[in-house]
Amino acid sequence: MSEHGVPPVTGPTVRPRRLRTTPALRRMVAETSLEARQLVLPLFVREGIDEPRPISSMPGVVQHSRDSLLKAVAEAADLGLGGVMLFGIPESKDATGSGAIDPAGILNLAITDVVAEVGDALTVMSDLCLDEFTDHGHCGVLTPDGKVDNDRTLEAYADMARAQAHAGVDMVGPSGMMDGQVAVVRAALDAAEHTDVSILAYSAKYASAFFGPFREAVDSSLQGDRRTYQQDPANAREGVREALLDVAEGADIVMVKPALAYLDVLRQVRDAVDVPVAAYNISGEYSMVEAAAAHGWIDREAAIIETLTSIRRAGADVVLTYWASEAARLIAR
Ligand code: PBG
Repeated sequence: MSEHGVPPVTGPTVRPRRLRTTPALRRMVAETSLEARQLVLPLFVREGIDEPRPISSMPGVVQHSRDSLLKAVAEAADLGLGGVMLFGIPESKDATGSGAIDPAGILNLAITDVVAEVGDALTVMSDLCLDEFTDHGHCGVLTPDGKVDNDRTLEAYADMARAQAHAGVDMVGPSGMMDGQVAVVRAALDAAEHTDVSILAYSAKYASAFFGPFREAVDSSLQGDRRTYQQDPANAREGVREALLDVAEGADIVMVKPALAYLDVLRQVRDAVDVPVAAYNISGEYSMVEAAAAHGWIDREAAIIETLTSIRRAGADVVLTYWASEAARLIAR
């Protein structure tokens, strides 16, 4: 004690900062890794165009032509990404989304093109949902009074699964949030002797405002919202329940979507299931960072890496992100 009764400053005995001293030390003790193989690049391919078309609400992302799509997937393969997730935008849409099932539909043609281009170098995945193909923009077929008809939609999903498998896809991504969709898709694939085609189930998919830019990306004509089939953002336990149901129905991988506003759900799902868990860093999450960076308000590259690392830290084994190729380049340097 000093003469004024103040204890001398001896300093803390525990100093966590010690492990943050140098880049080498920080790298050595990092709990979470971000690797190209964990990243999946979503890609849009549009019927009837010769040049890629920009998507104004997603700067840097385009609707590909069939040719430009192949350049993007070849680059993804060179970078060692885990895979690509394909979305098709047909020239014409109808009430039942028949372009999704047509073997000459844009998505099915693109699957065959992409598999021919990259072979086994990437896991080729495809969105299995009707919304890109329906003129009303809903993920299923409608009843006469305009409701999304769960069980009739399941029949369409079975047909779509068969068409995608026939086109050569490695993994289908049922994303429509119809009850029983994973079981129906699994049964359809197995009955068509596509037992090797795996299922990435969009299990906990929330009715999110952050899907906004995706509507432009796929020229969606949706009026209203998807709240009668996608989940209420208020519910985390229900997200876990949906994931467990999908595992029981035969999902090989389950997914939480969106990612950032649902990192708690992601962690709970990771702890509840024993299959790989994916998370989709969706269009609005991408556009927020791009918009802020374009204003000079945040450091774009640092924000990308921090975003993807946080999704991995929360429990995602696999991350779908529009930055997949760029992030692979950033982490390699
Ligand atoms: C449905 C589907 C959607 C997305 C992926 N699959 C749209 C929706 O459910 O409203 C959104 C992806 C994104 O926003 O980046 N086919």
